[in-house]
Amino acid sequence: MSVAIITGASSGLGMDFAKAIAKKPEVDSLWLIARRTERLEALQKELQKPCKILPLDLSKAASLEEYQKLLQSENPEVSYLVNAAGFGKFGSYHSVPVETAFNMIDLNVKALVFFSQNTLPFMKENGRIIQMGSASTYNPLPYLNVYAATKSFVKVYSRALHRELKPRKITVTTVCPGWVQTEFFSRADIDTNSKKSFAKPMVSSVDVVKKAVRDADRGKDISMYGLFNKTHHFLAKILPHRLIMRLWMGMAKKELSDDELN
Ligand SMILES: NC(=O)c1ccc[n+]([C@@H]2O[C@H](COP(=O)([O-])OP(=O)(O)OC[C@H]3O[C@@H](n4cnc5c(N)ncnc54)[C@H](OP(=O)(O)O)[C@@H]3O)[C@@H](O)[C@H]2O)c1
Repeated sequence: MSVAIITGASSGLGMDFAKAIAKKPEVDSLWLIARRTERLEALQKELQKPCKILPLDLSKAASLEEYQKLLQSENPEVSYLVNAAGFGKFGSYHSVPVETAFNMIDLNVKALVFFSQNTLPFMKENGRIIQMGSASTYNPLPYLNVYAATKSFVKVYSRALHRELKPRKITVTTVCPGWVQTEFFSRADIDTNSKKSFAKPMVSSVDVVKKAVRDADRGKDISMYGLFNKTHHFLAKILPHRLIMRLWMGMAKKELSDDELN
């Protein structure tokens, strides 16, 4: 009996990963993880496979312990682990409280490492780990400084883990999209409805997930969706990051108030 474990399954990319992976014949059941139980229950009704709902706040140590205990008691054979829970906060260094920055590090970095390390003993050959990275790993991002740093950690950690796991034939795929149409922006304080919004172009979560699952099944370590995203990646390799940051700041500043900029 093989299990797919998805964090951040209550919305956006995580939810679309759950829908895509539930269709796989080799997956018998799913564990759906996030804080909003009612969302997970609604998703469970939609999926054609048995689901275990785990309402956990992954920024809390007690939730991580609960997950570890569950692994030990259930002893599942895990075919897919998707670490999609995460959030970002847009704003200047003095407007994002340090507690929020720490919370981002706890969720985007610590929980992801915890889930990866602790789930691995329950994975066999052809097991797939999918990590939500971001195009923000391509260069440093002023006004999303901590978020971009957490995602850079995810990419560096996950690529190294992918290499280490080669002898076990388990792969780790880091998904690095640009802007994706999800609920991410309301928590990040980015107004996507404003005419001057820099969050463009926006791609569909279903398309990103489709490509990511295909890339994971092919054993790729990185998944990039879309021409704009690939061009960004290429330019960030050949242009000085100082220049890219200047261009980015020109766009991003338009969304910040004078208070935030001073
Ligand atoms: N959207 C983009 O443009 C974009 C681009 C690149 C990368 N990403 C990354 O993709 C991943 C998914 O984001 P999304 O775009 O799908 O955003 P989203 O729709 O806001 O989904 C975030 C998910 O994370 C869960 N989550 C948040 N805090 C949590 C906590 N403390 N404990 C457990 N679960 C928590 C949320 O569930 P609950 O609120 O129910 O807990 C939700 O299911 C994130 O890692 C994000 O950084 C997004």
